Amino acid sequence: MEILRSVAAVRRSLYGWRLAGESIALVPTMGNLHAGHDSLMAIARRHADRVVASIFVNPTQFGPGEDYASYPRTPREDAARLRAAGVDAVFVPTVAAMYPDGRDGSTTVSVPGLSSVLCGAHRPGHFDGVASVVLRLFNITVPDVAVFGEKDYQQLVLLRRMARDLQLDIRLVGGPTLREPDGLALSSRNQYLDAGERQLAPRLHELLQDCRRRLLAGGQGFAAIERRAFRQLQAQGFVPDYVAIRAAHDLSIPAPGCRRLRVLAAARLGRTRLIDNIAVQLR
Ligand code: PAJ
Repeated sequence: MEILRSVAAVRRSLYGWRLAGESIALVPTMGNLHAGHDSLMAIARRHADRVVASIFVNPTQFGPGEDYASYPRTPREDAARLRAAGVDAVFVPTVAAMYPDGRDGSTTVSVPGLSSVLCGAHRPGHFDGVASVVLRLFNITVPDVAVFGEKDYQQLVLLRRMARDLQLDIRLVGGPTLREPDGLALSSRNQYLDAGERQLAPRLHELLQDCRRRLLAGGQGFAAIERRAFRQLQAQGFVPDYVAIRAAHDLSIPAPGCRRLRVLAAARLGRTRLIDNIAVQLR
């Protein structure tokens, strides 16, 4: 596996592959890799001849007071994991390589609407940072396919919208959320949870499943289901940001007759912010 540290090194390596007619899949990450990331590498492998991962803790997607400085950085373990997954190359840029003129004042990509709802309403600027770094990664690697997890469902929908709006010739593929046996979605941030919080954390997924059962049973308004779940999270010791039932394709408020839904939630447990979501297909 090649470890590429500069934009020029990426261009050199990938140019050779492209010249040989090989297709390329990109899997962007912030490192501290777990089995959820591994699953995206495996999906990428099925979609292209070459798999390139990136590891970059992107400062522009963290707000003031968020965990940019303390975000877990485990480069040696990550490289071993990517090698075991059969990844061909990993791009590990510095902040200066990604933002040559500094992060402040550099060109920003903003996806209107989608960047300011749900998680965007609680993390101002977060999705501009995500879109801005992902477009840079796309421009550096020029992949045929890029793979993202449904764990960050709003991120996936927003990046699809960005790709469509900006006429990018890149297919975005979503991968299902990998979970602990008790249902908790795998996340690099789960290690912030203390023992008591870790025991409570799977309740978030259980509540989403309860919302799904209620939606499938019918007879209850969406707002009532959201409110009930929000209150239950509070009662169990979470500080919820939102519980929302949305149209799966664009995260809008579902129009009457909309059948493909997504239930999304974000809640804090102590200093850890957890997010999760599930699909609901109404009959
Ligand atoms: P990061 O949180 O490292 O996640 C990298 C990719 O792994 C994302 O597409 C995310 O949705 C996916 N992922 C995380 N947990 C997962 C799980 N339990 N199951 C399946 N996939 C999972 O998301 C980011 O980094 C950044 O915002 C990034 C896109 C790299 C831009 O900086």
